[in-house]
Amino acid sequence: MGGAILSGLLGPGVVVEGGIRVTNRSVEKAEALASETVTSLATSVDPDANLRAVEGARIVLVGVKPAMVPDLLREIAGALEPDAVVVSVAAGVTVATMEALVPGAVLRSMPNTPSLVGRGVTGVAAGTRSTAADLDLVRSLFETVGDVLVVPESQIDALSTISGSGPAYVYFLIEQLTRTAVDLGFTEEQAQTMVNGTFVGAAQLLASSDSTPTELRIRVTSPKGTTERAVAELEKADLKGVFDRATAAALARSRELAAGA
Ligand SMILES: NC(=O)c1ccc[n+]([C@@H]2O[C@H](COP(=O)([O-])OP(=O)(O)OC[C@H]3O[C@@H](n4cnc5c(N)ncnc54)[C@H](OP(=O)(O)O)[C@@H]3O)[C@@H](O)[C@H]2O)c1
Repeated sequence: MGGAILSGLLGPGVVVEGGIRVTNRSVEKAEALASETVTSLATSVDPDANLRAVEGARIVLVGVKPAMVPDLLREIAGALEPDAVVVSVAAGVTVATMEALVPGAVLRSMPNTPSLVGRGVTGVAAGTRSTAADLDLVRSLFETVGDVLVVPESQIDALSTISGSGPAYVYFLIEQLTRTAVDLGFTEEQAQTMVNGTFVGAAQLLASSDSTPTELRIRVTSPKGTTERAVAELEKADLKGVFDRATAAALARSRELAAGA
């Protein structure tokens, strides 16, 4: 996820004052990210890499696994600049947890994997010490990889069940429709061409038009036609109810994770 956001920062027209420093544990990863504009450090060969990376930084993005966040924040707390804002992408790590570990401003975020191609959706929640300027800065960071929604922290887990996990729901739908195409007699390759192409094409059509998904669906659905029959079957399956249960399950799991389960 950190790599995705780095690629946004390296995109055309993005100006980062004061340079970009990134860290990983492994040398291989660090070397792969190093460039003229990116100072890339590996903690395995430079134990102070994280401390050096945050020195002079106005914004510090924490992209490690959730369980590693507290130790990382303890490590860098003393090296942070007084005006540094720490923003974490870690699922389930609360503002309160982070504010207990660092002296200054923190924000919480929930990006998603399409950030890798600049089509991400990121939820951002302010902390109790962050200023409007901190929030603007963090918003502009995530806008380099897609759309940003600012929400209260109480909504971050719910947002995660929609846009954070959402790419998995889309891929799951693609997998199921591909199985149906194969059952209709198409080869695996033909099925993939049809289904992947249809999802990508439909999404791009949605992205490039001013119409709503409902309007676009109605346009494909001639009265008394074949699509109308198919959509009637989908309606019977109560997909809304299925998504209600799926997102409720994800929300319950995020509460378990926050409680350390
Ligand atoms: N994947 C998603 O869809 C998604 C969506 C939203 C949020 N997130 C959040 O993003 C975070 C990272 O997930 P990910 O899938 O990107 O994991 P990941 O690929 O394992 O990335 C974690 C990175 O942190 C580096 N790292 C670990 N410990 C470090 C340390 N002490 N100092 C410096 N670097 C260190 C690792 O480097 P090495 O590999 O060299 O050890 C690795 O590059 C998680 O907190 C997750 O909740 C993920």
